[in-house]
Amino acid sequence: MQIPITLEDNAITHHDFIPEIEAGLLAQSASISPKFLYDPLGSHLFTAITLLPEYYLTNIEKNIFTQYQEQISNAVGIGGTLIDLGAGNCQKAESFFNSIKPSSYLAIDFSVEYLQDALKKLAGKYPHIHMQCIGMDFSKQLMIPSSITSKRTFFYPGSSIGNFLSLEALQLLSQIKSQANDGGLLIGVDLMKEDSVLMAAYDDPLKVTAAFNLNILRSINSQLGSNFRVDQFHHKVIINHTENRVELYLEALEDLTVSWPGNSRAFKMGELIHTENSHKYTMESIKQLLKSAGFETTQIWTDPKHYFAVIYAQ
Ligand code: AVI
Repeated sequence: MQIPITLEDNAITHHDFIPEIEAGLLAQSASISPKFLYDPLGSHLFTAITLLPEYYLTNIEKNIFTQYQEQISNAVGIGGTLIDLGAGNCQKAESFFNSIKPSSYLAIDFSVEYLQDALKKLAGKYPHIHMQCIGMDFSKQLMIPSSITSKRTFFYPGSSIGNFLSLEALQLLSQIKSQANDGGLLIGVDLMKEDSVLMAAYDDPLKVTAAFNLNILRSINSQLGSNFRVDQFHHKVIINHTENRVELYLEALEDLTVSWPGNSRAFKMGELIHTENSHKYTMESIKQLLKSAGFETTQIWTDPKHYFAVIYAQ
């Protein structure tokens, strides 16, 4: 069995994040970056979310991948390196291994522990594909190793691009375009739809999304040494029509103070900590964003209700 290589250059250490976390917690409107949702438990909770019937994104994207597999593979072309941004359990990329036939697979994620396990299993199944993984916070900067000289196909499914503000999304897409060489980007994007569908997807009756959101407090406790108590907060979802996005918050259920080495922050009952934005696009707005990032052509596949779009951009 081939042993996947972990590239250490961009390995993340906990220490790097303390100033960023403190700045968010001490701001007048407190916030925590959504990347801290994905500690090992958070990554498993996110996988559970994708199995919920209310979280339509994953299923619809999968159906589009299956229905249009041949057209998508023809657009992307055979071979080269498949670069999976936010690879998670690597299952979505795996669904293209037999049609795109990449010679190598580079899996990138914030949570490298979760990634390594997934990649070990994959390497056993596809010994002919050269597997590598990197723990990278590509929300800050995307740096693909120059050793990857074959055609680069970036794979960014699941509408994770929606978790960035417009300017950040533009920066990331521009970095992808400038590092794609003669390859391109295969991306999944969630489209704007009725509030009731969005609300059910982000505030599901089993409360899996609530657990996923609340777990960020434990993730922060382990990064910062803080003493957040999960039972003092409540998962809250707001649909912001001006910004075309679903916003996730944690609402303090009582007056409380959170402390960590060297600092503390008081929260009044009802005060919010912003944890995530999930932007929803229209066909036009995503095409425009890709164009602004330097992509010249787009091919789009969607579902009958136009809930979700898969795009290959070059
Ligand atoms: C990863 N990302 C695309 C998810 C989303 O839908 O914005 C994260 C998520 N947050 C709550 N549920 C799922």
